[in-house]
Amino acid sequence: MLSQSMVTDEKFFLNRRKFLGLGAGALALGASYEAQALFGLGGSNDIPLNWKEDPSMSLYPVAKNPLFNVFLDEVTAEEEAARYNNFYEFGSHKEIFQAAQELKIRPWTVEVSGEVGNPKIWDIDELLSGMDLEERIYRHRCVEAWSMVVPWTGFGLRQLMEKSDVLSSAKYVKFTSFMDPKTAPGQRQSWYPWPYVEGLTIEEAAHELTFMVTGVYGHPLPKQHGAPLRLATPWKYGFKSSKSIDKIEFTSERPVSFWEQIQPKEYGFWANVNPGVPHPRWPQNMERVLGKDTYRPTEMFNGYGEMVAGLYTNLEDQMLYR
Ligand code: MTE
Repeated sequence: MLSQSMVTDEKFFLNRRKFLGLGAGALALGASYEAQALFGLGGSNDIPLNWKEDPSMSLYPVAKNPLFNVFLDEVTAEEEAARYNNFYEFGSHKEIFQAAQELKIRPWTVEVSGEVGNPKIWDIDELLSGMDLEERIYRHRCVEAWSMVVPWTGFGLRQLMEKSDVLSSAKYVKFTSFMDPKTAPGQRQSWYPWPYVEGLTIEEAAHELTFMVTGVYGHPLPKQHGAPLRLATPWKYGFKSSKSIDKIEFTSERPVSFWEQIQPKEYGFWANVNPGVPHPRWPQNMERVLGKDTYRPTEMFNGYGEMVAGLYTNLEDQMLYR
């Protein structure tokens, strides 16, 4: 059962109407990546876009949800997004797309556990077929100061929370990524605290923007993007968006994330995008637009402030922006 604090209030919806003034323009942008695919610009033969063998292929493409396509951004070309990835399980450089093809995405289960009335180990295909899938165009801002704009397919985490009957004792959600050192060479490097772990507060988890991603560019997720299930929280730095998740646990205690364990002075729990708070080793006020030789100014909460700023009132004493 979702507590009252998790239910989006009316103010948010009223504000969102204003916020969505750009909706129609953004919708038109949906066509641009489709046109790229049509004219052969959105993929190339040497990129392993292995989704063609994905058993969930028949679920795609799904309807776009224009309510979430709120900016006039140009969508990043698929081959740019699919070639430049962070997935430390497969290496600490950006060209991990070949190595990531070793990931076995079937059979795959997602264990939902902890402070829930209905704990369950979901078979991924049962999970996907039981959810209302939709497409949303989201910004993605990496803490390394590069950004992209991607049409993700997936479902609101809130849908899964409802099915899991989250109890009022749940204050946080912890996402754990797969652990398989045989196929993931990075996991043989014992100085990293594997598996990759991330977390959100229960209010963040229930927020409408919090999206469980199953596909991208109108088809199942390629492995390098974190198939078969990843997170997207577009107002936070990209490291919060865990890939290849196989455990979702609702807890009463705040999880300590992978990067927080490694370097707590540089990476905190909240990691909300803020151009005014530099990373200890570089500024955060500008970002390199993936696939272009251009830079653009970074926006507070990555532009989603009107939707999410209310989650952080009275928390000013915390390290919200790193
Ligand atoms: N999830 C896992 N399991 N392992 C990772 O190394 N990197 C994070 C995030 N999720 C990462 C992860 C970082 S730093 C970023 S910016 C995004 O994934 C990159 O997502 P993309 O490769 O699909 O662009």
